[in-house]
Amino acid sequence: MSKAEIGVLGLGTMGAMLAMNIADNGFQVAVTNRTASRIDEFMVEAGALADNIVAAAALEDFVQALERPRNILLMVPAGSAVDAQIAALRPFLDDDDLIIDAGNANFHDSARRAALAEKEGWPFLGIGVSGGAEGARFGPSIMGGGPKSGWDRVAHILTAISAKYEDTPCATWMGSGGAGHFVKTVHNGIEYADMQLIAEAYGILRDGQGQTAAQIATRFAGWNDGALQSYLIEISGKVAAAIDPETNHPMLDVILDRAGQKGTGRWTAIEAQMLGVPVPVIEAAVAARNLSAARDLRLRGSARFAATESTSMPHDAVTDTDLEHALIAGKVLCYAQGFDLLNRASEENGWDLPMPEIAEVWREGCIIRSAMLNDMATALRSDPKAHLALTPYFSKVLDQTMPGLRKVTLAAQAARIAVPALSAALAYADTLATARTTANMLQGQRDYFGAHSFERVDRSGAHHGPWLGAHLN
Ligand code: 6PG
Repeated sequence: MSKAEIGVLGLGTMGAMLAMNIADNGFQVAVTNRTASRIDEFMVEAGALADNIVAAAALEDFVQALERPRNILLMVPAGSAVDAQIAALRPFLDDDDLIIDAGNANFHDSARRAALAEKEGWPFLGIGVSGGAEGARFGPSIMGGGPKSGWDRVAHILTAISAKYEDTPCATWMGSGGAGHFVKTVHNGIEYADMQLIAEAYGILRDGQGQTAAQIATRFAGWNDGALQSYLIEISGKVAAAIDPETNHPMLDVILDRAGQKGTGRWTAIEAQMLGVPVPVIEAAVAARNLSAARDLRLRGSARFAATESTSMPHDAVTDTDLEHALIAGKVLCYAQGFDLLNRASEENGWDLPMPEIAEVWREGCIIRSAMLNDMATALRSDPKAHLALTPYFSKVLDQTMPGLRKVTLAAQAARIAVPALSAALAYADTLATARTTANMLQGQRDYFGAHSFERVDRSGAHHGPWLGAHLN
């Protein structure tokens, strides 16, 4: 067998699926894994694809199985494992051998690794891969970061294995350093928010309207035929329709309401806060996961504060169309926040992120893939720096759907149904539309207790209020 064009190190779920995808696309791929028995298992799982796969238990054999200049895809847990694997590999590699971290790395780590590699004279790429196991096997969305020359070397493989939107590969180089993993991080922040908005709609249908999981599944399936078409709406309908084989109850009714998180959505909120970019729907989604995890606290709170009245809503409180519009508005506002953050980070890091192409590579393969992303790509092609909510197309969408967001949010709050993401979306939209907010009170307070000064509406400069010193005498 000829030498392999690329190697995959790490045969966990994602690594195994990517290796099979690469082999399935006709490339020779070498594979290795720290636990040798896993390699044997994988070669059996690969079936006929094994004809394009070279298995190597020893790291040196793995490297020798690769044609020069070598391309190695690391699929190991994010964090120190990546650094350890790089350190283990480098002694066997030449300076023109490429190492690609395709895990869910924090973009600061990828920026650090790319800078160190550049200083040492070898190429490092950090790429975000989205789509879970199914995406990795049959076509993920791929967001590349690091030296463009490194990307260009493997672009033919990454575009071949990526998802396709109307024959266009959902794989793009985003920029230098940690750009690829930053775009993936924002993808995950939007993913958290999208999932939370859907969960809140589910809560309104379940707790407000007393609908069963089966009825809710039907509702989601219907929405998936319209403007809300997306992978997350589709799978949410399937989750709602699923029956627990053990109890024969709806699976949803058996799942404990305590959410996990590997933390990528949290990173989005942290980076947004560091840059001063408002992403309240994403932040609400992260907070909702944190509060769901505090189940003991919620059980105590429920015992103490659960209102005597139920959470049911008057039957005509909200229609299905109101709810669909609320989700559409919440989604537009959440993505607008995500792209606002991408634009700000692009400036801050000197990346020149390709906004239209980011929306384009998210159209297929990734977890947030949806029909609406093509409209976003179109809007961003007209003005890559645009705030999505203020573009001609999406401002009209909001004209049509904001009444539904307001009606649904108010009805849910009146029924004591927590809707933090929908509420954050509504408050964000209202603030976006407010020419004179109440931040003048904040400035007055800050100047009163800390002499921090404020600007005036009638002239420039920094000013203080008449209170300065008064309360110190
Ligand atoms: C993807 C997903 C994936 C995500 C895991 C766990 O794009 O394929 O976003 O990368 O990290 O599904 O996510 P959480 O544990 O953070 O929910």
